[in-house]
Amino acid sequence: MKEVFELGNRVREDFPILKRLVKGKPLVYLDSAATTQKPIRVIEAIKNYYEKFNANVHRGVYSIAEESTAAYEEAREKVARLINARSPREIVFTRNATEAINLVMYGWGQKNVQQGDVLLTTEMEHHSNLLPWQTLSKLKGADLRFIGFDEEGLLKLEELDNYKNKSVRLFAFTLASNVLGTINPAYELVKYAKEVGAITVVDAAQAVPHMLIDVQQLDCDFMAFSGHKMLGPMGIGVLYGKEKLLEEMEPFMVGGEMVKAVNFRSSEWNDIPWKFEAGTPNVEGAVGLAAAIDYLQRIGMDAVRKYEIKLTEYALDKLVRIDGVIYYGPKSPEQRCGLVSFNLKGIHSHDIATLLDKDGIAIRAGHHCAMPLHNRLGILASARISFYIYNIPSEIDLLAKSLEKIKKLLGT
Ligand SMILES: Cc1ncc(COP(=O)(O)O)c(C=O)c1O
Repeated sequence: MKEVFELGNRVREDFPILKRLVKGKPLVYLDSAATTQKPIRVIEAIKNYYEKFNANVHRGVYSIAEESTAAYEEAREKVARLINARSPREIVFTRNATEAINLVMYGWGQKNVQQGDVLLTTEMEHHSNLLPWQTLSKLKGADLRFIGFDEEGLLKLEELDNYKNKSVRLFAFTLASNVLGTINPAYELVKYAKEVGAITVVDAAQAVPHMLIDVQQLDCDFMAFSGHKMLGPMGIGVLYGKEKLLEEMEPFMVGGEMVKAVNFRSSEWNDIPWKFEAGTPNVEGAVGLAAAIDYLQRIGMDAVRKYEIKLTEYALDKLVRIDGVIYYGPKSPEQRCGLVSFNLKGIHSHDIATLLDKDGIAIRAGHHCAMPLHNRLGILASARISFYIYNIPSEIDLLAKSLEKIKKLLGT
């Protein structure tokens, strides 16, 4: 077993926060789906940026401004290589995945969606990949439709047939669910979208950090993800978009940086991707994200994925042994990303999370920004544990022990 979990034991040293105590106990961080912890290399890359070459980008002709610009654009190249985009021109830096999806909604949707068009999504979306489409459907009088999921949390693909003869303009789906853990059959979904002539928006917030993603192979039109969920800092996210689509899109924020020429009454937009990056960008964020990508790639995305499958398998095995635990999503760890949402009979998930904190264990409770999904499951809330490369099985043992203690305490 030690060998299987060697990666986690090896990398833990790189994460200073894992050395701290919470309520006198070592921190057990099981909330990486919300945000991940940062390795020292990322923290140092940001410190180094501020100590050595902090300057605004794209403007200065002096040395440190050129260094800062180079670092910012190198980060874009790294992101492009990570997901195998054709060119860094297809990578737009945003604040987070949410902003990236909103950018597609305003920039592409406003121009291309008409009254009566179908906007297709699923019943397992995070609010960030639902509310933009609700807004667009209201703005344009479009018809928002949903693909459901079955008892195991797998998409009901047969429901796609209902839309074969409809004017589906857009299909927005999550690659990995932040509640069910389900990894959706993205290739099949993109193929379907092409058949009906829809563009695809892939929410990869829970996917890019955890597995090898190749946007050319997948052939999706847009993909969104966040730096802070992949060891990078908060405040930096990514929109991948096919060059042709980005060229045709309108910016949804205007101002400095994103223009070539400005007159009093009209302006000429900058080239992509800068056309979408109005104002001073988050250079610190890009520098930190680049360091995070280097760190992950040194481990290898395939190794990350394999490790998380093992941890998930271990966690599911532990959880099912606890009487009263109901977990959601697929049974097979191979069909899941590294998280498990569950409920403990007779105990509210907020009580579980609060009591676990007394043992230094950090988990998430609530609706995880997916209220309609919880409605579908017939519940109001769930407890969620989520992993990353720095988690180890002994932490899951501590969680299981603590859950048993809570059950005794609350007499269930
Ligand atoms: C599946 C999914 N999509 C989108 C988001 C939104 O990410 P952010 O808050 O970084 O924009 C999250 C965050 O938890 C998520 O899990």
